[in-house]
Amino acid sequence: MSVPLRRALVTGASSGIGAATARALAEAGYRVVLLARRESELRAVHESLRENEHGEHLRVVCDLCDPAALEAALARVDAEFGGLELLVNNAGLGYRAKVEELDPALLERTFRTNVLAPFLLCKAALPLLRRGSEPVVVNIASVVGRRGIPGQTAYAASKSALCSFSEGLRIEWATEDIAVCTLNPALTATGFFEVQPNPSRLPDPDLSGAAGPDEVAAEVLRLARHPRPEHSMRKKWLALTALGLFAPRLADRLLARRLGGGWRAPKR
Ligand SMILES: NC(=O)c1ccc[n+]([C@@H]2O[C@H](COP(=O)([O-])OP(=O)(O)OC[C@H]3O[C@@H](n4cnc5c(N)ncnc54)[C@H](OP(=O)(O)O)[C@@H]3O)[C@@H](O)[C@H]2O)c1
Repeated sequence: MSVPLRRALVTGASSGIGAATARALAEAGYRVVLLARRESELRAVHESLRENEHGEHLRVVCDLCDPAALEAALARVDAEFGGLELLVNNAGLGYRAKVEELDPALLERTFRTNVLAPFLLCKAALPLLRRGSEPVVVNIASVVGRRGIPGQTAYAASKSALCSFSEGLRIEWATEDIAVCTLNPALTATGFFEVQPNPSRLPDPDLSGAAGPDEVAAEVLRLARHPRPEHSMRKKWLALTALGLFAPRLADRLLARRLGGGWRAPKR
């Protein structure tokens, strides 16, 4: 029996969560556009995908920090796919640095990748999503988008902006019948920590208890099938977020202790 045509665009599909998501979607019968900058990694993921009866998967090499390249990439997707049922804004970049060490160019790159690109991509993809059947957008933010943490303030703030963007967009696009979901993964074992700028070599987290990228990919697929406004993959972080609203000093203290440090509110 023929499977209905379902088309997905996954950004950051050359590694980690994006590659796992592209594979999971192809397994589920989606025709997939894989987008990232690294051509050879993208090709390897592309070649590993299950074939689709409606046509070939597509890989698009694109730096999402370049708005003109982003527009050209979407024009190509439009020409070759004609519409989209799913957009997964997954491409992202970490930045591990104390505020006093922040480099303006890296700060800008973090926000261009994690915030501006999803904004511009959603804007450019709207005509394609309008032509899709029951379209869904999944924005991959992070549990730290709902609770800022020391040593990663720039990254957490960029993901917080993405969470806020998703909330507003969800209501704007309800009239378009496009579902918008935020997925907040917690620690996931990918190459993310090797790639992120870390000028002072602050210690990376211990990945031994981390989720695998396939677990996050499975959540993306669940959201594509049954959209929910927001899903956080570790309930502990959700509790910390809620605590931070009502008892921020207690939340700060608990977080500092968990990260292996102490904290006391400045006495005034
Ligand atoms: N790993 C975690 O613990 C964790 C936790 C919570 C949330 N997340 C989020 O999950 C998402 C995926 O991260 P990951 O863990 O899978 O890390 P990853 O393996 O480093 O993947 C990041 C992806 O983003 C792409 N990318 C980065 N900058 C880009 C740009 N300017 N243009 C196009 N593509 C770009 C990279 O591809 P190219 O280098 O080939 O361009 C790569 O495919 C990110 O948004 C991250 O913030 C990760």
